[in-house]
Amino acid sequence: MLVLGVETSCDETGVAFVRDGQLVAEVLASQTDMHAVFGGVVPEIASREHQRMLPVLFAQLVERTGLGPAAIDAVAIARGPGLLGSLLVGMSFAKGLCLSTGATLIGVNHLHGHLLAPGLEAELVFPALGLLVSGGHTHLYRMDSPVAFQLLGRTLDDAAGEAFDKVAKLLNLPYPGGRYLDELSAGAVPDTSMFPRAYIHNDNLDFSFSGLKTSVANHLARQQHLCFSAMPPRESLNRQGLLSLCPEPDQLAILCASFNWAVSETLRIKTERALDREKGIRALIVAGGVAANSWVRKAMGDIAQTRRLSLMLPRLSLCTDNASMIAYAGWLALQHGYRHDLDLESIPRGRAVPEDWIRI
Ligand code: KG4
Ligand code: ZN
Repeated sequence: MLVLGVETSCDETGVAFVRDGQLVAEVLASQTDMHAVFGGVVPEIASREHQRMLPVLFAQLVERTGLGPAAIDAVAIARGPGLLGSLLVGMSFAKGLCLSTGATLIGVNHLHGHLLAPGLEAELVFPALGLLVSGGHTHLYRMDSPVAFQLLGRTLDDAAGEAFDKVAKLLNLPYPGGRYLDELSAGAVPDTSMFPRAYIHNDNLDFSFSGLKTSVANHLARQQHLCFSAMPPRESLNRQGLLSLCPEPDQLAILCASFNWAVSETLRIKTERALDREKGIRALIVAGGVAANSWVRKAMGDIAQTRRLSLMLPRLSLCTDNASMIAYAGWLALQHGYRHDLDLESIPRGRAVPEDWIRI
């Protein structure tokens, strides 16, 4: 069965083919540079870019694989959560294709797509604990199968990636700045008293990162010399280049390490708490853009090793938004006997994605 995946929920436009659960090919276009000028994603620009790029990318995918519209059995569409205007562009494209070819439509929860992505590289093991850490979400799930997700905890304010991006912005680094904070921290020893591990002194599985961001802002207000005086030029956006622009590179590296430590420790504590409570968990799945973070990867690796769990951490290109994970999650839902109709709704950020599948 050939499934086309379509991803347009935020600022990446992607199309991918998955055949019988295996990735055939993917084409992805990122709008990051366009939004970086504004310091965050501008929804109107995002929708227009999806509209402009989607047919171009689809034509490239067809050319690269030799598989035309007639070969497509199903179209998996990322239906939300995301920016509504952007989601609607992908949804219209997916529905148009289904209408003209007779392919089956299957809507995919973008967040579930992230957590199922490791299945493209290794066999998924259930029940699993899923930690989704991205620019918009910090969610903990119990996953009993590819179509049975139970939300255990979520962020009450900023997502982990949002905290990274806001701290990067305070330092005058371009958006999205998470990876620069990660790179700058390499080899530095964190000062564990510099920043709080936010919202751990309770007995729940929720997260809150806005206090941590404020703590970094207060720290930087007293240590202005650690912030870049202007946004570093593109050619300096690597560890050496950035450190050479900073008057106190060692202090900056320690600040970044301390911030990375505070975030990854918070994630570790809540993940361990969930594992203590949930029965029968066999695997730990970590996904979303922040799963690319070296501190988070190390913390989750340690948990999995101590508790003898299978660790499923997708490769970096599968951590961030992509269409392969959507095609794959759609294929899994179809395998479980689910589909959607052409009245499928897109779901904006903030609204729960309904499980309104139709039985095949
Ligand atoms: O999953 P994703 O591509 O998009 C959303 O759906 O949000 O995640 C993007 C987020 C951004 O906040 C970005 O700064 C963060 O992932 N990110 C990182 C790293 N790489 C990407 N954060 C920390 N360390 C990294 N290495
Ligand atoms: Zn995402």
